[in-house]
Amino acid sequence: MTNEQYYELIKPYEDATQLMLTRLEILNHSIYDHAMEESKPVHHMQYRIKEKRSIERKLERLGLTDSLINAKDNLKDIGGIRVICYFQSEIHELLASLKRQSDLIVIKEKDYMTNPKASGYRSYHIIFGVPLHTLDAMEYYPVEIQFRTLSMDFWSSLEHRICYKKERANKEELSKQLRTLSESLAMIEEELKGYIEEP
Ligand code: GTP
Ligand code: MG
Repeated sequence: MTNEQYYELIKPYEDATQLMLTRLEILNHSIYDHAMEESKPVHHMQYRIKEKRSIERKLERLGLTDSLINAKDNLKDIGGIRVICYFQSEIHELLASLKRQSDLIVIKEKDYMTNPKASGYRSYHIIFGVPLHTLDAMEYYPVEIQFRTLSMDFWSSLEHRICYKKERANKEELSKQLRTLSESLAMIEEELKGYIEEP
């Protein structure tokens, strides 16, 4: 894939990602209790457009050539947003609101909060199809949103650092410990939630 092809490919994904970011900002402003600025559901958001090299690597892993059409047909995470909330209840609230927005479609959804991965990874992944209108047509572009609580994000970020592309001798033991730590963090989060005063 040439640089020019890459920039042509990602343009609509950038637009779709920006549109989703704005919708999330609007929800963040409108859901919270206006008497309490600190009750906003979103702690912070991050977003990224998949890099050229990762697109090429992923297509290669899938056994496909790195053409524009293959990227468009097979990659649903070219545009990605990470929404970090305080607690799980806020994630459910945001999800429900987005699902009520009738022009969005849900392409794929994975609840790793209810069913954590074997690694201990917890998060809620959902891919929305975002309608982009051109002069005479409309097309849905996928944007992947990963919803995490602060504690899920804390665990994921460190686990990524610890495990990423590293070969380790005691892999089994390490992975068991990481899983246990993930469960402990979930309990700590639950306990801290108990201290938040309900309105
Ligand atoms: P890929 O997107 O090809 O990785 O596979 P998939 O679409 O089946 O993805 P999945 O829904 O499992 O999630 C992929 C993304 O979730 C990764 O890019 C990471 O950001 C995150 N993720 C998934 N599993 C783990 C994990 O065990 N540890 C950490 N730190 N992050 C993970
Ligand atoms: Mg993915």
